[in-house]
Amino acid sequence: MTRDLFEAVADVRHSREAIADGAVLLRGFARPFESDVIAALHGIIVRAPFRRMFTPGGHQMSVAMTNCGSVGWVTDRTGYRYDGIDPNSGQPWPSMPAAFLKLAAQAAAEGGFEGFAPDACLVNCYEPAARMSLHQDKDERDFTAPIVSVSLGLPAIFLFGGPKRADKPHRYRLAHGDVVVWGGPSRLFFHGVAPLADGQHALMGRQRINLTFRKTR
Ligand code: SIN
Ligand code: FE2
Repeated sequence: MTRDLFEAVADVRHSREAIADGAVLLRGFARPFESDVIAALHGIIVRAPFRRMFTPGGHQMSVAMTNCGSVGWVTDRTGYRYDGIDPNSGQPWPSMPAAFLKLAAQAAAEGGFEGFAPDACLVNCYEPAARMSLHQDKDERDFTAPIVSVSLGLPAIFLFGGPKRADKPHRYRLAHGDVVVWGGPSRLFFHGVAPLADGQHALMGRQRINLTFRKTR
């Protein structure tokens, strides 16, 4: 009886839902890591503040971004790329905090991808109304590694589609502490985020932060 109750509590703390072949939603998985992760995040944004980048088409993104790791994802008028240098500071991106690596590796393993060692973490900051249109993560050289996506702060509707842009996406509500891992057959599936609803989060305030971990090479 006590054991059943104990297991039920553990299940609530982090549940696991398959959302596609190779893709899982791990609800609450990041909660045990949150204080270390949020502290490390503060260190990153002091050195590499959030900025709203421009797409090659000249459109300014509604999501503000920064990076940590040996390379960071950047977009400007010349295109999308991974770059070892933060174009705003001219300095290397902040290194990947140990707490980030640990969370990413453990979540990947839970999703069936042992030994995940990301070299890049794109940090996205959504304020109310910010959104991300459907896209594939395909600027990496290594598609055998999964993508690990950690959500903090305000909840968002995550759109997860299929291999073609026209595939109708399923909608998942991602709350603080939820992690999505996708790889293998779904590594290149289209995904995006619906416009963020306004709100206030006890730990993160009026925003959603998303960490996406990638192995770029
Ligand atoms: C992304 O696809 O880079 C971000 C996804 C998210 O914010 O949940
Ligand atoms: Fe993405």
